[in-house]
Amino acid sequence: MHSATVVIDPAFTVAPVRRGTFGTFVEHLGRCVYTGIYEPGHPTADADGFRGDVLALAREMGVSTVRYPGGNFVSGYNWEDGVGPVEDRPERLDLAWHSTETNAFGLHEFMAWTKAAGVEPMMAVNLGTRGLPEAIELLEYANQRRGSARAEQRRANGADEPFGISFWCLGNEMDGPWQLGHKTAREYGRLAAETARGMRQIFPDLTLVACGSSSSGMPTFGTWEREVLEECYDQVDLISAHAYYREQDGDLGSFLASAQDMDHFVATVAATADAVGAARKTSKRINISFDEWNVWYHEDESKLPKGEDWPVAPRLEEDVYTVADAVVVGNLLISLLRNSDRVHSASQAQLVNALAPIMTEPGGPAWRQTTFHPFALTSRYARGEVLRVAVDAPTYENKRFGSSVLVDAVATHDAATGDIAVFAVNRAVDAPTTLRVDLRGVGAVEVVEALTYAHDDVHWRATQEDAETVLPRANASATVGSDGVLTVELPAVSWSVLRLRGAAA
Ligand code: AHR
Repeated sequence: MHSATVVIDPAFTVAPVRRGTFGTFVEHLGRCVYTGIYEPGHPTADADGFRGDVLALAREMGVSTVRYPGGNFVSGYNWEDGVGPVEDRPERLDLAWHSTETNAFGLHEFMAWTKAAGVEPMMAVNLGTRGLPEAIELLEYANQRRGSARAEQRRANGADEPFGISFWCLGNEMDGPWQLGHKTAREYGRLAAETARGMRQIFPDLTLVACGSSSSGMPTFGTWEREVLEECYDQVDLISAHAYYREQDGDLGSFLASAQDMDHFVATVAATADAVGAARKTSKRINISFDEWNVWYHEDESKLPKGEDWPVAPRLEEDVYTVADAVVVGNLLISLLRNSDRVHSASQAQLVNALAPIMTEPGGPAWRQTTFHPFALTSRYARGEVLRVAVDAPTYENKRFGSSVLVDAVATHDAATGDIAVFAVNRAVDAPTTLRVDLRGVGAVEVVEALTYAHDDVHWRATQEDAETVLPRANASATVGSDGVLTVELPAVSWSVLRLRGAAA
């Protein structure tokens, strides 16, 4: 048995809990769109062909924002192919995923889906094979009320009211040699600046995201951010970060500490952005859109189609996640919350079927993967202000990071209701950890609920046949002593949320 202490004081705030932390991503990749969110004829489908079972799960997950339509897909996408009468839309080769894009689902369908799901759209423009003219035409089509050719085209296509999309990504992963239209940082930075300038000439108040690095392991990491921001600092609001993690070669200890890389990623990008800002003598701050993050076993699990095989909506990147993966996802959310002062938006990649918390079968059911649970509970209970917590825990050695702390945690406090949520992971693989939560400065609290996600077999996976053997369970060990200290036992390799109630303001 290990032991650790967390000190929580509501005076030490990081930033407000941002709903944008709980975004996800819908890309035209594999079965994320087709037979994922969209399947006309499915028993639960509505008149628009949207799967009702998936909509219900997306709502239950507490998704705030959805990035669309890619991803790598967007770098070869013609948005015009996806509007107008469906029977007139062309089939195209999707070079990113070696698939056929039918274009049955496009901008209007996506906007109707966001409405049904109650989420905010985050739209990406193609800066791979296309550029400024197509981006401003898409913006005009989407947001201009009436009068211009593109606005009238939208109205003729059935959307009288503008879509009012305010959140835009300027391309995707342009630092990656795999990206269609891959560019150097200077080339991309100039294109991002020009595109942003043009878009703001129509709608000055858009929130615009420039592409940062595809991972902290990219050879250009750091230099890319600096050079891109030197070109477009004044025109954009956020710079993106992407990170995927996985358990490799049985090294569970390193994998469980993945959030350490995310913390490092955020700190490095924030420092780089601030250095560019300082050299420009500006008080404007560039913050971070962590708009792709997750666990991804891509190289192991599925193969891209090849040669003359260009299937429609193939089964691609359909990772089946373990309990350990869910603990890491919960820990990555702890990192995103802890970094809420600089991470203003985040999108878990992706929502359905492709590296996703929700799985579906065509014509069949939808179910929750293990990773669904920490996301849904964090989104539900993180409220008010994120608190800076002090964690005192033993460390353990691992290959990737050298040394990592055994327990990681963050807390949120809603002064209006007195609600406190503590999110904690125990990374120990060998034994439970007794966690003492010293609620200094909070006053008397009661435990509303303690939920823990764990299983003796950390590689248990949810399947269509059995998605419910492992669910978040009440943790009866959580008690508050007469000294006001909360004690709880965290099982080995576990994620927990402790819900407390103190005095309301
Ligand atoms: O999310 C899957 C892919 O990962 C995205 O298309 C791309 O942006 C990233 O490399």
